[in-house]
Amino acid sequence: METCKLTLRGQEYELPVIEGTEGEIGIDIRKLKETTGALTYDPGYGNTASCRSSITYIDGEKGILRYRGYPIESLAGKFPFSQVAYLLIYGELPTPEQAREWRRELTLNSFIHQSMVNIFDNFPPNAHPMSILSSMIAAMPSFYPNYEKEDINTIIARIVGQAKTIAAYSYKKSIGEPYIYPRTDHSYSANFLRMMFASPAEEYFVPKVFEKALDLLLILHVDHEQNCSTSTVRMVGSSMANLYVSISAGISALWGRLHGGANEAVLNMLQMIYADGRNYKKYIELAKKKDSGFRLMGFGHRVYKNYDPRAKLLKEAVDNIFNEIGINDPLLEIAKDLEETALRDDYFIEKKLYPNIDFYSGILYRAMNIPTQMFTVLFSIGRIPGWIAHWLEMRNDPETRIHRPRQIYVGPKERLPHI
Ligand code: COA
Repeated sequence: METCKLTLRGQEYELPVIEGTEGEIGIDIRKLKETTGALTYDPGYGNTASCRSSITYIDGEKGILRYRGYPIESLAGKFPFSQVAYLLIYGELPTPEQAREWRRELTLNSFIHQSMVNIFDNFPPNAHPMSILSSMIAAMPSFYPNYEKEDINTIIARIVGQAKTIAAYSYKKSIGEPYIYPRTDHSYSANFLRMMFASPAEEYFVPKVFEKALDLLLILHVDHEQNCSTSTVRMVGSSMANLYVSISAGISALWGRLHGGANEAVLNMLQMIYADGRNYKKYIELAKKKDSGFRLMGFGHRVYKNYDPRAKLLKEAVDNIFNEIGINDPLLEIAKDLEETALRDDYFIEKKLYPNIDFYSGILYRAMNIPTQMFTVLFSIGRIPGWIAHWLEMRNDPETRIHRPRQIYVGPKERLPHI
């Protein structure tokens, strides 16, 4: 077994080394505290592998992303979202028969429990759809109380299937229109769009180009290894909490603007620049000043130090789709100007800051008439199969322990109150 030597305060220790299938090296420090008395210090866990995983591979330096071994470029735009979701959760792409059955299962399980529909009525009309989505999924164990004994595949189909219905209902509620029910003859993405835009008085015939665009967006979001929300799902699930509440916690973690909330923040930023006379250079300069508190939203990534491969696919798709439907969006022009200028600027070059997936996704959602508040919800819907895959992997891994990091205490030494 390969080992690594550590010298601490004059004493030498040997630590086991593990290697992943793509040659990634990890130093196994599980016994470090026991043998040396020391902890590792890694705020934000940027250098910590919290598990072994066989779901997603990322090489941030080279801009590589693979799901279950398949490069993102071989899946995105080539498969419907439901089949890639199946790949993530069950490890293999479905056969045509499995794909048909899975799609049907997802639709049959996409009706919201009738008593849960009543909960909708008590949310204020302007409630943020992320708050609604996380609350509704957290409420599911109350309405499906058999969660400890029920077949996990039923629970999975229910969460994946209902997430899009909850999302579309939250929009319908915000505009005061009646809910539209899903249909088995529509794909996952087409069902979502129809539930958003059809009304009992008028059918919405989902444009093929939008259905494909939404499939692409959801696939590009489906997993991204141990990011903030996925680690949250694993952490909550490691206490043996059920799948529903673990997913709900992931949705909450995703909401923040440094994570899934960035797509909403990008669009707000582009609108602000537009309103400010398209003066994008001013905002590039502002982003470079630390004390300004302003960052170029949709730029930078913890792992990618190269062009995010998802952003590359999305940028191409936006160009093709806009040409096909003949849209001219001034926000797209501002985004391209920002990107071009930033990529030539020393600040962004030195820090290896490139556009990430959120930079162009909002512009595409906007073209599909999806309101800004729904952007992060769509990120969640795309990410749910990834979270489920990680939750299952964590639960089936014999090395899993309850997640419980340590700390280096820097507070006051023992003292007593004056009485
Ligand atoms: N605009 C301007 N400067 C940025 C920046 C941005 N979008 N992203 C990072 N930086 C700078 C930081 O100020 C920091 O500078 P320093 O080394 O002088 O202190 C350096 O680049 C490293 O950034 P840091 O915040 O330490 O990296 P991180 O890995 O902790 O954070 C993100 C990664 C994604 C949170 C960060 O890049 C960011 O806030 N991006 C904007 C939000 C976003 O698009 N999020 C979606 C992610 S998919």
